[in-house]
Amino acid sequence: MTLIKKIGLFTSGSDSPGMNAAIRAVVRTAIYYGIEVAGIRRGYEGMINGDIIPMDTKSVSNIIQRGGTMLKTGSSEQFKTVEGRKLAYEQLKKNNIDALIALGGNGTFKGAKEFGEEYPDIAIVGLPCTIDNDLRGTDFTIGYDTAINTVIEAVDKIRETAESHDRLFIVEVMGRDSGMIALRTGIGVGAEAIMVPETRSDLNALFERLEKGRKDKSSKIVIVAESDEPGSAFGIGRAIQEKYPNYDTRVSVLGHIQRGGKPTCMDRVLASRLGVAAVEGLKDGHTGEMAGLIHNDIMFTPFGQSVKHLHDVNAEFIRIVEMLSL
Ligand code: F6P
Repeated sequence: MTLIKKIGLFTSGSDSPGMNAAIRAVVRTAIYYGIEVAGIRRGYEGMINGDIIPMDTKSVSNIIQRGGTMLKTGSSEQFKTVEGRKLAYEQLKKNNIDALIALGGNGTFKGAKEFGEEYPDIAIVGLPCTIDNDLRGTDFTIGYDTAINTVIEAVDKIRETAESHDRLFIVEVMGRDSGMIALRTGIGVGAEAIMVPETRSDLNALFERLEKGRKDKSSKIVIVAESDEPGSAFGIGRAIQEKYPNYDTRVSVLGHIQRGGKPTCMDRVLASRLGVAAVEGLKDGHTGEMAGLIHNDIMFTPFGQSVKHLHDVNAEFIRIVEMLSL
């Protein structure tokens, strides 16, 4: 058991739906155990600037259902420097903070790892919050389920207009280096093809897939992860138009709507479970680790191993898209 008196809680990097539910869970669990909580606003930048506010059970009322983050977020160039991290440490000491809970993704945990190695007297536990689902040490990240549900709702609408006009749509979804959003939503919307960065995708293979499909299909949907190698959805759309001038092709980039919105029940429950686990983990002496859920069990993974990981693309998922879209 470690005696923790005051936790500094912050969100950092890109926001994700469910961050507020995790904030609520951390604050209320800490208070349950008699630990104080301070909210650090705007991530590492706020830590350096001392943008720190007290939090109590009331300050997290009515946020479980809201997207975004009440603590605001961002990235900090200054925190990447030794001097910046020293300033942050001094602010934490000044505010009597002896432990941190970091909500974020890859960049957040890289920063937390460096900080923890330089200042081991401040314990740090992380929670995986990103719509990309690209972290090792958890089967699902907080925000992913909401994002994929936002995508399928949007693409179902696109399918209706595509069907009415006999059109082919290229729909670009988020995932800077990860095709996890494209992969699941591709199955969920019954896409004719998906393109993800984890597999080598070339345009000829895409043309082949489109030709294989039933000739009498009136609409076709191709889901592309934003970072796929052949380029942006617009580039792919142009290539299809050139190759098949008869296809009436349109491009739709879903963009940041995927990052907002009410978290789904799955994300709220995941955030609540992990929020409790983070506080209890700190009490049990965990530090330098991310709390995640593997096979429905809480697991702690060192920051060094949890950072960005391209989940092995499940070959079964790709096979399902190909088989079921015939
Ligand atoms: O990492 C989350 C993410 O939403 C990626 O999927 C996307 O590429 C990126 O953030 C967009 O970042 P920004 O909001 O800074 O443009």
